[in-house]
Amino acid sequence: MTSTVELLKIKFNQALVAAFGEDFATIDPMVVASTNPKFGDYQCNLAMSLTKPLKSNPRAIATQIIDNLIIDEICETPEIAGPGFINLRLKTDYLQIQLQKMLGDERLNIPKVNPNQKMIVDFSSPNIAKEMHVGHLRSTIIGDSIARVLEFQGHEVLRLNHVGDWGTQFGMLITYLKEVYPDALTTANALDLGDLVEFYRQAKVRFDQDETFKETSRQEVVRLQAGAEDSRRAWQLLCEQSRREFQLIYDDLGIKLTERGESFYNQFLPQIVEELDKIGLLVENQGAKCVFLEGFTNKEGEPLPLIVQKTDGGYNYATTDLAALRHRIETEKATRIIYVTDAGQTNHFMQFWQVAKRAGWIPENVELVHVAFGIVKGEDGKKLKTRSGETVRLRELLDEAVNYAKKDLETRIKAEGRTETQEFIDHVAEIVGLSAVKYADLSQNRTSDYIFSFDKMLSLQGNTAPYMLYAYVRIQGISRKGNIDWQKLETDIQLVLEADEEVVLAKHLLQLQDILEEVAKDLLPNRLCQYLFELSQKFNQFYEQCDVVKAREPQRTSRLSLCDLTAKTLKLGLSLLGISVLERM
Ligand code: ARG
Repeated sequence: MTSTVELLKIKFNQALVAAFGEDFATIDPMVVASTNPKFGDYQCNLAMSLTKPLKSNPRAIATQIIDNLIIDEICETPEIAGPGFINLRLKTDYLQIQLQKMLGDERLNIPKVNPNQKMIVDFSSPNIAKEMHVGHLRSTIIGDSIARVLEFQGHEVLRLNHVGDWGTQFGMLITYLKEVYPDALTTANALDLGDLVEFYRQAKVRFDQDETFKETSRQEVVRLQAGAEDSRRAWQLLCEQSRREFQLIYDDLGIKLTERGESFYNQFLPQIVEELDKIGLLVENQGAKCVFLEGFTNKEGEPLPLIVQKTDGGYNYATTDLAALRHRIETEKATRIIYVTDAGQTNHFMQFWQVAKRAGWIPENVELVHVAFGIVKGEDGKKLKTRSGETVRLRELLDEAVNYAKKDLETRIKAEGRTETQEFIDHVAEIVGLSAVKYADLSQNRTSDYIFSFDKMLSLQGNTAPYMLYAYVRIQGISRKGNIDWQKLETDIQLVLEADEEVVLAKHLLQLQDILEEVAKDLLPNRLCQYLFELSQKFNQFYEQCDVVKAREPQRTSRLSLCDLTAKTLKLGLSLLGISVLERM
């Protein structure tokens, strides 16, 4: 099924051609779902932008478009409003037919895109032996949701974890490793280095205190880069330890990623510098090799250099990203490359993309996107810290969320006089706690900073995960109470949409596909959260006004179907946010 917005766009394009000729075939008809029911269900605000080329007034243009518009099967007679908006109201027949198609279908009648695209989502990407901090958590949650939406649409998505597993800090870490675990390099057994962040801190203390240690560390970097076996082994041990720690968090959150860290691109770095030189973009500046950027200047107003090779021969973060970009285009054949990091890295992306573009490495069909997000703040409005003022450990944060959820749940169970097994409590607390963290993040417009509050995210009221999960449980319960054999009925259910609340709910259910297309385009998962939140509100209004189980046929089956479809939509929508539903809570 073509989404309603897409379908209307096609119809408008045909009307444009019929009214004004072939030249208008490629114009974007600008059809959007209306946010205010007063203005119909969909709105086209095209006429205003055509006044210049057509030398006419917008209302006259709108009339001409409507005269040529063939949408009787979809909409009531269009209305012109204000300076030339065309407002459209869906016909109930059309709604019924579309919803019936959704009912019997696992994908809710949303087809896969054709043709699909190869896309890369570069997300999470923590650094080895350093803290995986809340910024990485945001990247992980947002990146996963974006990947899920694109995958659902049928794109081929490669989820890449661009971990920081290379760099001068390894000289220090390896030297320290050799010092404290001299046997580690010769035993085949996996080594537990304990807390790597603490390990890093101790190594840094040694590095800052001891000149010989410092010098050894420098040589160690060179040895590592030259491929010395013991150094490589030590490096591997460090990476493995980090990987194990990261994996615990990915397992908790249900995140799948392909690790392809910075070290993977080492082999390509010299070539990047060579080619930039060949193309004539490379400039030697005080011993460093760099490309001067356009549109970026320092305080003195001079063009800023992007250093691709340092004086000591070492390469930079940007050099690796240039190599990664080429690999993703030339080897992976990706045509949409999405990077999910905090907004603080925006300049970094703008800069190396500019160099890649000027080098001619970005074909026209390739789109580069930076999915930027704001900082995580504590309830005091400052950067999130623990009570004792340290950076928050992700593990602890997730554990705390689950504990909070468990306490809430236990209180509720007691108040309701229920008895539940420990297994049930643990399971529900785990899902609710982790979903709450995810949903709180995803439901905000990612570009703004966000305030981390356990109380808010675990509240059963408002736009939160517990609220959404609870709505699902309730709706499921209602459709279950109806005792309907769905398998048997799905094909020949006759929907009856009469009450206002039924129609409003039905129209909202139909919008899922449009919303997903929007999210896939703008990469803003909060749009999906908002949609689901509104869905449960519209459902509540419907359920307050309309009898369901007690209704007579054919209303009864029809309304139970609406319940079922709402539950299925919630389940699918939440799954695209990385949240699994509960049958009971
Ligand atoms: N490791 C980086 C960090 O922690 C993020 C990497 C993002 N991806 C990239 N291709 N630069 O900030």
